[in-house]
Amino acid sequence: MFLSAVAVVSAQSIQYDASRKVWLLNTRVSSYAMGIAPDGELQHLYWGGPLWRIEDVPAAKTRDDISSFDPHEMLEAEEFPGWGGKRFYETALKVTRADGNRDLVLHYESHKTDGDTLSITLKDINNDIEAVLEYRVFADAGIVSRRAIIRNKSNQAITVESAQSATWNLPPGDGYRLTYLSGRWAAETQVNREPIHEGMKVLESRLGHTGHNFNPWFAIDKGEANEEHGSVWFGALAWSGNWRISVEQTPYKQVRVTGGFNTFDFAYPLKPGEQLETPVFYGGYAANGFGEASRLLHGLELSSIEPHGSAARVRPVLYNSWEATEFDVNEAGQTALAQKAAKLGVELFVMDDGWFGKRNTDHAGLGDWVVNPQKFPTGLGGLIKSVNALGMDFGLWVEPEMVNPDSDLYRAHPDWVMNFPGRPRSELRNQLVLNMARDDVKEHIFEVLDKLVTTYTFRYFKWDMNRIFSEPGWPEVSADAQRELWVKYVWNYYEIMDRLRKNHPELEIESCSGGGGRIDLGVLRYVDEVWTSDNTEAFDRLQIQEGFSQAYAAKFMSAWVTDVPNTNGRSTPLRYRFLVAMQGALGVGSNLNKFTDGDTKLATQMVALYKRIRETVQFGSLYRLLSPRTNDTTANEYVSKDGKEAVVFAFRHSQQYNTEPPTIHPQGLEPRGVYQLELWDGTLLEKSSGAYLMENGIHVNLRGDFDSTAVLLHGQ
Ligand code: GLA
Repeated sequence: MFLSAVAVVSAQSIQYDASRKVWLLNTRVSSYAMGIAPDGELQHLYWGGPLWRIEDVPAAKTRDDISSFDPHEMLEAEEFPGWGGKRFYETALKVTRADGNRDLVLHYESHKTDGDTLSITLKDINNDIEAVLEYRVFADAGIVSRRAIIRNKSNQAITVESAQSATWNLPPGDGYRLTYLSGRWAAETQVNREPIHEGMKVLESRLGHTGHNFNPWFAIDKGEANEEHGSVWFGALAWSGNWRISVEQTPYKQVRVTGGFNTFDFAYPLKPGEQLETPVFYGGYAANGFGEASRLLHGLELSSIEPHGSAARVRPVLYNSWEATEFDVNEAGQTALAQKAAKLGVELFVMDDGWFGKRNTDHAGLGDWVVNPQKFPTGLGGLIKSVNALGMDFGLWVEPEMVNPDSDLYRAHPDWVMNFPGRPRSELRNQLVLNMARDDVKEHIFEVLDKLVTTYTFRYFKWDMNRIFSEPGWPEVSADAQRELWVKYVWNYYEIMDRLRKNHPELEIESCSGGGGRIDLGVLRYVDEVWTSDNTEAFDRLQIQEGFSQAYAAKFMSAWVTDVPNTNGRSTPLRYRFLVAMQGALGVGSNLNKFTDGDTKLATQMVALYKRIRETVQFGSLYRLLSPRTNDTTANEYVSKDGKEAVVFAFRHSQQYNTEPPTIHPQGLEPRGVYQLELWDGTLLEKSSGAYLMENGIHVNLRGDFDSTAVLLHGQ
């Protein structure tokens, strides 16, 4: 009887106790609860491990003020506070009405459930502004998503000054720790971990795109979690424009995370009847450490966010000539590289920058998406045919949001770039940003891209974006509508990709922004992989990839093998570079014309090995076993969905004299299963049970500098 009660309750992802006005949202691994207080406030009640009995969740209550300086609102955890009444902490919605009235107090109005989605409507106490909070429960993935739809129900215009997707409240208390990803160009997604104290920490982008400096992801633990153990609350915001996540601890030990559109330079006008939709904010709770938190997000991305869903194909092995040729592309040179790439086993050949307009350097040509006749006298058709005849798909680099002032497009449409009249148009990498918030610019970009795919029928776009915004003016619209640019630009970016994909269902897109400047759960709805970083140096990559993997699945993580010495002057062995890159979607970016016979032989062997393990790497469960931040060895393990196959990668950076090789303890194996161990080069090792391997570990004989190995585990 006990068991059947659990089964019945857990099958229902959204429960409502009408008598006490409490909702319980249940996933496989967590529960989330909220309720309506007597004064009408929607209060947060629970976020943690799974509950099966809604009666356990206490009803929301309205407390007493503590003092004339500490109103009761300070003590309550509201799900979506408006700025008004006695609220002085971070709020989720702030508006100014045309008549100057700025007070907003949101109370429960109604709710409805539709499958796994619960919509709760809050209304201002004067009935003029409405916020519909949408909760979606991804029960199997263990995630709840939230967003808000703000509606102007009055007969006067309003300006929305802050529109957040959600406020996430943690159980009140002290001693929390925040983990977040920060970085810079060529050093993205570095892991930071620090205590949360009273006050506020802001992670954000004001750059127009997601940004290299912070990634819209957070994890919070009680100060004691590690990869395998401890409670972790985490979230990821699905937005590729200006975003903001604030982490706040109040004097009363309330810890809140609020995220959505960045409030910086934000002002979104809504006429009577109009609405604004916020980005989706995904959140989850993991009882088993940061590793489980990551695996939950990875699972969500693969099952519910990635555009092809469960029908997504494994990422093909890609070759990209950028680091080999830079702008010096032509049919003969690319064909020669394609022949060499095909021999290695490459499946997708991508031609990067330099094929169009007068694009011989980064000073000219962006915007002129016509094939350069000197470089490709008969168009791209010849090259694509050769690539296809070699058994590879063809992909093309584009940077459609940008224009060089030295381009026919800019000469024809100088008004198409973001600008404030009479002010400088600041260039970065000699380029300006087209105002893609404009519908005519959006249509132009869509037509350019659509025509390219239609004319040449190829498989893949690498969509790049190589600068951040400046002077984001939009002089053609009224002053009060100009700041819509920050939001409309991003919606139009998504719309173009959506339409392209609908017109060309086979088309795949890679999101690149000078490396990892546009990686988030918003863009992952439209792209198949992302360019992780312009830094392809293998040792640096271990840290970048460790950070990436906190939030994003390996399937999306484009990773190339490139030549040494790399940009930072470091040289690592080719095997090491391959094994580092094989932990994501493998690509090769080396100058194949310079490969020795030995390089070619090893590369061919590694590509073949990757094809054997990539299903496990791309779609399996990741266990970060040893971190490059804290060990002289980095180790990661990927376990296939059915648990039968696993692969452990290990990298030793620099061995101190006479120190022992590391022992690596795999996880996630079937304890009672027996595994045949195989080294990366095909050498068969012993057979061992999962229990023994996880307890006793695998001894990898890594010596010297930049030694590396991979051990394959085959369930018998
Ligand atoms: C950016 C990308 C690179 C390459 C160049 C081309 O830097 O990140 O991979 O495509 O642009 O200009």
